[in-house]
Amino acid sequence: MIAISRVGALLALTCSVGASRTAVESFDYIVIGAGTSGLVVANRLSEQSSVTVAVIEPGNDERNNANVTTTLFGAGLNTPVDWLYSTVKQSGAGNRAFDLHAGKAWGGTSAINGMTYIRGNVAEFDAWEQLGNPGWNWNSIFHYFKKSEKYTVPTDSQLAAGATFESRYHGFHGPLHVGYIPALENGSFAPVVRDTWAGLSVAHNPDLNSGSVRGYGMGPQTLDTKSNVRWDAARAYLHPAENRPNLKVLKGTVKRITWAAGKSEAGLLVADGVEVVTDDGESTVLRAKKEIVVSAGALRTPLVLEGSGIGNPRILKSLGVEPLVDLPGVGENLIEQPSHFLVFSGDLHDSSPSAYHSYVTAAELFGADLAAVEAATRASIPRWARAAADASGVRSLDICAIEKLLKIQHDLLFKHNVTAAEILLVIAPDNILASNYWALFPFSRGSVHLESADRINEPLVDPRIFLADFDLSTMMAAGRFAEKFWLSEPMKTKGSVMGPVVSGGLDAQWQAHLRDTVIANSHPTGTASMMSRALGGVVDPELRVYGTANVRVVDASVVPMQVSGHLTATLYGLAERASDIIKRTTH
Ligand SMILES: Cc1cc2nc3c(=O)[nH]c(=O)nc-3n(C[C@H](O)[C@H](O)[C@H](O)COP(=O)(O)OP(=O)(O)OC[C@H]3O[C@@H](n4cnc5c(N)ncnc54)[C@H](O)[C@@H]3O)c2cc1C
Ligand SMILES: *[C@@H]1O[C@H](CO)[C@@H](O)[C@H](O)[C@H]1NC(C)=O
Ligand SMILES: *[C@@H]1O[C@H](CO)[C@@H](O)[C@H](O)[C@H]1NC(C)=O
Ligand SMILES: *[C@@H]1O[C@H](CO)[C@@H](O)[C@H](O)[C@H]1NC(C)=O
Repeated sequence: MIAISRVGALLALTCSVGASRTAVESFDYIVIGAGTSGLVVANRLSEQSSVTVAVIEPGNDERNNANVTTTLFGAGLNTPVDWLYSTVKQSGAGNRAFDLHAGKAWGGTSAINGMTYIRGNVAEFDAWEQLGNPGWNWNSIFHYFKKSEKYTVPTDSQLAAGATFESRYHGFHGPLHVGYIPALENGSFAPVVRDTWAGLSVAHNPDLNSGSVRGYGMGPQTLDTKSNVRWDAARAYLHPAENRPNLKVLKGTVKRITWAAGKSEAGLLVADGVEVVTDDGESTVLRAKKEIVVSAGALRTPLVLEGSGIGNPRILKSLGVEPLVDLPGVGENLIEQPSHFLVFSGDLHDSSPSAYHSYVTAAELFGADLAAVEAATRASIPRWARAAADASGVRSLDICAIEKLLKIQHDLLFKHNVTAAEILLVIAPDNILASNYWALFPFSRGSVHLESADRINEPLVDPRIFLADFDLSTMMAAGRFAEKFWLSEPMKTKGSVMGPVVSGGLDAQWQAHLRDTVIANSHPTGTASMMSRALGGVVDPELRVYGTANVRVVDASVVPMQVSGHLTATLYGLAERASDIIKRTTH
């Protein structure tokens, strides 16, 4: 019976756009993208039974795809549920093109990601307010972190294996299961990891979700601990709502937003629908009576905006798109973290993969060189800002604005002492041990744009990895720190660790090794930033695209600066808060 009713629900839900020959379908809200953030918004808006909500998504319902449901990381990568974008060749990294993974499924990237649930540091969220967003700070988003979360307290055996938590930082009644992987109960690695980091002055952090991620701790994940199933955004926010008659998921890819003939009284563009391309290449239009919410992810939202006439007029004209709103920040300010693996071998056996996180500050990374690094970084900001502005094409970005952003980031790192790098331990089969580490706050700024108005599935992505030398220095310092971990007691003797990999260990050797083997973390943010328009922002604090009356963006694009945690924890909270704002401010 359950199977039959589920099929019924599926049929009602997965009608193909344009399949029926009836009049143009219309909805109050259209959400573009059934991803991590879009499904939060779709769920919360459709709680209001008086409004209708459609979500447009090119990916499929993957609730029965074992590559999605498994809690082993990586199964969905490079399969049909991965868009697998490629960057332009990176001159700072051996002239290689990088893979950027992103989910193509109900649930978006939450369907393929590493499931780590870690928020970030208080000061990182408070910086959003400084960027022109009154009301966006740690205190205001904290309530929404808890609203989204359904935390499962670790079992006694998980606690014995090293899991720790503090209840006051967690929500217990939200839709998103957060907890520890069942296999952790057999983990035996934690005491060694903890003691080794402690010996390197990286203290144990009892709860990485408290607003301070500094130190070493075991991170929870977005999974159901009982069934050991990935809890992606579809399981959390769509499946429980899929029988609502006012919510529909439609299959298709949005090419552009369509606009009403006249402007609003305030002189703003008014969206009245979207043009959707179906799998067979047909175009159809859906009407939106109230609002459009763009949630296509940091690499795709800018493309939707550009295709709709919103962006840098110079770029739009070259695409043959009529410029309607001059917003040069669209597709700029792309912040992607450089990531690297150091691989060791050892005879340690453990069954708690990827739960051991360490977050270190610039002071810990640079030691006695801290003051010199701080000063050199500050002095380089104008140069990096100019490089980012030049790359945007005939300086269409305001160099002073970029400088201001980079200075705020500099303050975060060197005044507020937020964490500068994450070092994640990976234990793989066949005695493989690794440190995967990344710079949390790169100063490089890249871009993503439409390459041609019709190639809506192929973003032209340039993260400009290592444009800023700080990023390379941070990676080098983090790599050395990671190496030191494996070669320090008690880790060293317990695991008979073989290494190091970067022989010689001179700066030049490290730099060459990093440039040749660095990868992208697939954590892009900032490409339609929530910031003042003067700073190059694209959306206001109510997530509304400047110059429009009724188009919002809710996804990683609006996150104006990186956060130290992993992104979904932040995005679930952000999308929950955004949903309340949209409900309150829709006219
Ligand atoms: C390999 C990998 C590992 C990661 N590991 C972690 C982790 O462990 N923990 C963590 O917190 N974060 C992790 N992240 C990052 C995190 O998952 C993403 O930042 C987050 O899921 C992005 O959410 P979003 O809402 O911005 O976009 P997405 O979830 O990507 O949603 C965008 C949706 O829009 C759809 N779409 C795109 N274009 C269009 C269009 N034109 N029309 C209609 N729909 C469209 C897409 O198909 C997709 O479903 C990882 C990311 C990757 C790639
Ligand atoms: C799951 O991944 C495997 C290995 O990459 C692949 O062969 C298989 O086709 C994938 N399954 C689906 C449903 O895509
Ligand atoms: C832990 O190990 C025991 C004994 O090998 C095994 O029966 C059990 O299934 C394991 N638990 C998990 C969650 O993997
Ligand atoms: C940051 O670190 C510096 C140098 O270690 C210290 O002087 C300063 O007080 C710290 N600031 C904060 C806010 O912790």
